[in-house]
Amino acid sequence: MCGIFAYLNYRVPRSRRDILQTLVKGLQRLEYRGYDSAGVAVDGPGKDNGTSIALFKKKGKVKALDEEIYKNESVDLDAQLDTHFGIAHTRWATHGEPSAVNSHPQRSDKNNEFVVIHNGIITNYKELKKYLGSKGYEFESETDTEVIPKLIKYLYDNRESDSVSFSTLVERVIKQLEASDEGAFALVFKSIHFPGEAVATRRGSPLLIGVRSQYELSTEQIPVQYNRGDSTIEVEEEKNFRNRQGSINALHSVHDGMAVEFYFASDASAIIEHTNKVIYLEDDDVAVVNEGKLYVHRVKSAAGDDPVRVIQTLQMELQQIMKGNFKAFMQKEIFEQPESVFNTMRGRICFDTNEVTLGGLKDHLKEIKRCRRLIIIGCGTSFHAGVATRQILEELTELPVMVELASDFLDRITPVFRDDVCFFISQSGETADTLMALRYCKQRGALTVGITNTVGSSICRETDCGVHINAGPEVGVASTKAYTSQFVSLIMFGLMMSEDRLSLQQRRLEIINGLKKLPELIKEVLSLDDKIKSLADELDHQKSLLVMGRGYNYATCLEGALKIKEITYMHSEGIMAGELKHGPLALIDKHMPVIMIIMKDACYQKCQNALQQVTARQGRPIIICCQNDPEISKMAYKTIELPHTVDCLQGILSVIPLQLISFHLAVLRGYDVDCPRNLAKSVTVE
Ligand code: G6P
Repeated sequence: MCGIFAYLNYRVPRSRRDILQTLVKGLQRLEYRGYDSAGVAVDGPGKDNGTSIALFKKKGKVKALDEEIYKNESVDLDAQLDTHFGIAHTRWATHGEPSAVNSHPQRSDKNNEFVVIHNGIITNYKELKKYLGSKGYEFESETDTEVIPKLIKYLYDNRESDSVSFSTLVERVIKQLEASDEGAFALVFKSIHFPGEAVATRRGSPLLIGVRSQYELSTEQIPVQYNRGDSTIEVEEEKNFRNRQGSINALHSVHDGMAVEFYFASDASAIIEHTNKVIYLEDDDVAVVNEGKLYVHRVKSAAGDDPVRVIQTLQMELQQIMKGNFKAFMQKEIFEQPESVFNTMRGRICFDTNEVTLGGLKDHLKEIKRCRRLIIIGCGTSFHAGVATRQILEELTELPVMVELASDFLDRITPVFRDDVCFFISQSGETADTLMALRYCKQRGALTVGITNTVGSSICRETDCGVHINAGPEVGVASTKAYTSQFVSLIMFGLMMSEDRLSLQQRRLEIINGLKKLPELIKEVLSLDDKIKSLADELDHQKSLLVMGRGYNYATCLEGALKIKEITYMHSEGIMAGELKHGPLALIDKHMPVIMIIMKDACYQKCQNALQQVTARQGRPIIICCQNDPEISKMAYKTIELPHTVDCLQGILSVIPLQLISFHLAVLRGYDVDCPRNLAKSVTVE
């Protein structure tokens, strides 16, 4: 999905080359989100700071853009620019094919008077385009975004006086974009009419600003103000990541002339190497950096608005998001699972007292226990985490549990009531469909719970309460460690809900003991990698792969098939083994590759029956089973033997061979494992 990065240096001398390198590096950090073209805008071409803008745009990878920049000899790369604002973008095509002209920054006119980068979709762009066209503004791209720079130029050309500020113009622009309720945007503006000044705003798409000062940022030194209407409210530093829970220190004076750098980005991974001090903008904030000071204006205020913007300290480390010795981030993330799963449980399960405490849910537990049903909502892998834990949640909470795909849930206008508790599962915390479903449930008065991996994300901020899965940054587009950590988080929720149920104590203990051993068992599964790779070698020439199972392992089939589709581009289907004879059996012959999951649980015999049905049609399945299963080992099939754990946790182990198979197949086929074609990590459009 599109990525925004922008860099403003105020009284910090940088060569144009340094600035371009910073911008390109920022884009590289966002590459994992998925994109198909990229672009940057800097002041150019000479030392005449800010009076003209040079644009570089290229279809394809950021590397190609970088090469393009250095091919251009008209800009003076060695010019020193004391104060400068540069913007950069990776585009994931929605309106118009991937091409240089459709990529961002989009511009107002041939002189590049205003340039804009945009994430999201403007739904009323056709009306705006028609209007601006009738006023003589010529369009060059097929994008929805292009109306924005054209509109701001129109407003600038027709301004009532020369004193109209850049941020006022932006506020006027976004009022027009509000014409559609469904529009979403994060926008950053640059203009030759306002050199060295940056304006950024958001609605529905995330945007954050990093601040770096040559002085250590302290309560006295932060050059930030927050304005709302006539009153000035100071930005405050946060003690706790969720400001509604944290105690707050007020920050005071604004230092004139202090050297400072600002980084704007759609996610923290592009900022973290420069600074860990960040401000997350809220919907309808307009952030302005002028003369080295940051102001935040509200376009409109509503009751319940947070009166402060908080400078948060990110805990993320750059090496956490680097690849290390692995071939791909996805491979690294698969192998991180013993630690990521452990981190999900850290400080939450006390293995001595068998108590489970999720701090973010504690205060709402009574209310949750009184609810009428649980609804788990997500997309893709996050949805599968709900499917995987539904049965055990029904057992431990004794409540009906619905698991819903966010898009379908909204399409159906599903009835939701005040006594429902709705869980929103999302690695990124920004998935548009899940976020829309959250707002839908909130409007209907349900209690909303977020299960996310991204601190400060929209879902994290907009839910009533929640759980951070603490899996660490996930870079590979195909989600792996987030799935197992979401799985464990939901199990912990079930354990917390059943703490005072006498009849469930034995079951709880069994699960808690299983969780304790889980990291070690995951390591055991990962040690099978060589064997799994050789099975992948044999599957390489195949066009299709069926993955079958049932009960606790049905979700594994769905998730395994999704991994295979996502990164190997092979057709793959997760099949509920109970449905075999209702259709899928027709696909089976000796040529059809099948993986069957047959674990020692209540469905064991039924899975054996499915195996018979497959082998009777000359199918030759690869079987994922428990170690030393006498029934299966006497058959002459290829197996992946996994350590045995509690039935409801087995899916955490059984998904790993499928994650590894898909990884090896993608490498064999020469595909980009971390950035599969047509897909994006963070899908912020509906
Ligand atoms: C995209 C990603 C998937 C992910 C899904 C939901 O489709 O490619 O890997 O599972 O979004 O994302 P979320 O961030 O909400 O978990």
